[in-house]
Amino acid sequence: MVNSRISGFYNLPVEERQQKLTAAAGLDEAALAGLYAAGLTLAQADHMIENVVGIHGLPLGVALNFQINGRDVLVPMAVEEPSVVAGASFMAKLARAGGGFRTVAPEPVMIGQMQLLDVADPEAARAAVLAAKAELLAEAGEIDPILKKLGGGPLDLEVRILPDTPIGPFLALHLIYDVRDAMGANAVNTACERLAPRIENLTGGRVHLRILSNLADRRVAKAECTIPLSELAFGDFTAESVRDGIIEAWAFAAADPYRAATHNKGIMNGIDAVVIATGNDWRAVEAGAHAYAARAGRYTSLSTWGKDAAGNLVGSLELPMAVGIVGGATKVHPSAKAGLALMGIQTAGELAEIITAVGLAQNLAALRALATEGIQRGHMGLHARQVAAAAGAVGEQIERLAEQLVREKTIRVDRAEEIMKEWRAND
Ligand code: MEV
Repeated sequence: MVNSRISGFYNLPVEERQQKLTAAAGLDEAALAGLYAAGLTLAQADHMIENVVGIHGLPLGVALNFQINGRDVLVPMAVEEPSVVAGASFMAKLARAGGGFRTVAPEPVMIGQMQLLDVADPEAARAAVLAAKAELLAEAGEIDPILKKLGGGPLDLEVRILPDTPIGPFLALHLIYDVRDAMGANAVNTACERLAPRIENLTGGRVHLRILSNLADRRVAKAECTIPLSELAFGDFTAESVRDGIIEAWAFAAADPYRAATHNKGIMNGIDAVVIATGNDWRAVEAGAHAYAARAGRYTSLSTWGKDAAGNLVGSLELPMAVGIVGGATKVHPSAKAGLALMGIQTAGELAEIITAVGLAQNLAALRALATEGIQRGHMGLHARQVAAAAGAVGEQIERLAEQLVREKTIRVDRAEEIMKEWRAND
């Protein structure tokens, strides 16, 4: 049984944290070795992209306290921003007191698009494609027998007429495709490329683009949580004031795109960190998230916050979550592989659910801070440590310098460098 509550984790040296994590995850050292090593080797990196000259590192932390659909989960997060891992872990603790996160992910269905140009009669072209639908789907289904055996493959073909574009009317064909445990770009793109000549024959038109859509709105994952009112009070803030402050903060994002962009960025702080830690394509997830946030014609919040009949805080988040646990870097990258093992994930849907729960927790962390003491207070200590390191502090100097910067309320590299100079002069 995994236990995602590890007390005192934050204060331990890294090696002890690794030991505690291995024990809490119920895994052996080897399964998590990829997390504890510095990620990729140069040779592995050289096989992944072009012109490799090095490896770019990111801190890999673990979010604690997550309980998702009744199961404890330890969540790997790769992110450079201080407070993100701590914020998610803390909010997961509050949510845990309300039963944890409730999540759902639908069947892993993606959309592949084919842009059909040069058709004299769009309605006739649409009719021709739809009349041949069964045959086209059967052809697309032949491409990947393994996916078919696993229950995936093409499901439907839809035809949209775009009447008013800068180049006049044309058709957008949507191949609806179940990609099972993959992110799905390869499967969908291959199928679209394969079908294009048949569609040109059927319609007399020209298939131009053949590519998946990142607005994966058939693959929208959902997470909800209830934070008991009693968990919300802290310092001088009453539980009611924190709850209502969070709801007011959410209302700002719901009503205003300027605020919604920042609000959603906070959600993506958590989401991207897990997407990256599992070797998934975070640009795809980002693109899908923001397009989904604007689906009603106006950009708005991806989450909602309100209260239940008992006065508890209730939050929910939904967004497209095109992530996989096979293909891409997920099985090649050693720390991505170990990250999936840490979470005990069996399907892409489970990963999508965990990621969405982390996004909701991260959103709550930001709103709670913003609605009460402001974001800078929590950020300051961690930010000061980064500034201290950037100014050249090493070892114990980092903590000492960070403390001084916080005391002086001047967390800037130039000031940090000045202090370092003073220290050197007094040595
Ligand atoms: C900072 O990385 C994220 C926040 O700006 C999110 C928000 O404003 O909700 C704190």
